[in-house]
Amino acid sequence: MKTKFLISILLVGTLLGFGQSEVLQGLRGDVPVDEENIVVEPYQMQEGITLHKNYRQQPPLIPHKIEKYQINLKANQCLRCHSWPYNSDFKTVAAPESHFIDAQSGHRTDNIAAGRWFCTQCHVPQSNAPELIDNTFSSSDKQ
Ligand code: HEC
Ligand code: HEC
Repeated sequence: MKTKFLISILLVGTLLGFGQSEVLQGLRGDVPVDEENIVVEPYQMQEGITLHKNYRQQPPLIPHKIEKYQINLKANQCLRCHSWPYNSDFKTVAAPESHFIDAQSGHRTDNIAAGRWFCTQCHVPQSNAPELIDNTFSSSDKQ
């Protein structure tokens, strides 16, 4: 019964023109996953410069390569430079106090808060990657 219902929905959908081949806009374009795609040139890292932030709360972009710095369940090599006391040795900017506040209790902690452990959830290396799809996004100070 359920299958019949699903099949009729599909048929009606097809008649109405749903599921017509839409051009996918991701990096793969419209190349199906079981076919080999052209090699995408790696984007040029933009190192050593600070790019303009697009809104006040934007996590700053990373102005250096990160491939060598592991983040897993036990280790976080980013903290070797971006947390006290190492930041004083390396003269790097430390992760801010907001990163040391436990989200549930609101307590300040000496260890990075669990929700901030995976740095690359929010911070990404800056590159000259083109926009994947055309869009009208503009910095909030330019609107
Ligand atoms: C060997 C030391 C080192 C390691 C390890 C390191 N960084 Fe950095 N990072 C730097 C330096 C140097 C800068 C340049 C700015 C500064 O003086 O801190 C920087 C800048 C940054 C900034 C920009 C800060 C701002 O205010 O604009 C972010 C974000 C950042 N790193 C994130 C990371 C993340 C995430 C990792 C791990 C994947 C990482 N870094 C690993 C040394 C390091
Ligand atoms: C949930 C998102 C999120 C995660 C995860 C996160 N950050 Fe951030 N980070 C931010 C935001 C937002 C800011 C800017 C606002 C602020 O200071 O809180 C920031 C700011 C920073 C800065 C700039 C400080 C300054 O004074 O300019 C550094 C360095 C940084 N983070 C490092 C890290 C490192 C290292 C990790 C991983 C251990 C990490 N962040 C994880 C969101 C995040």
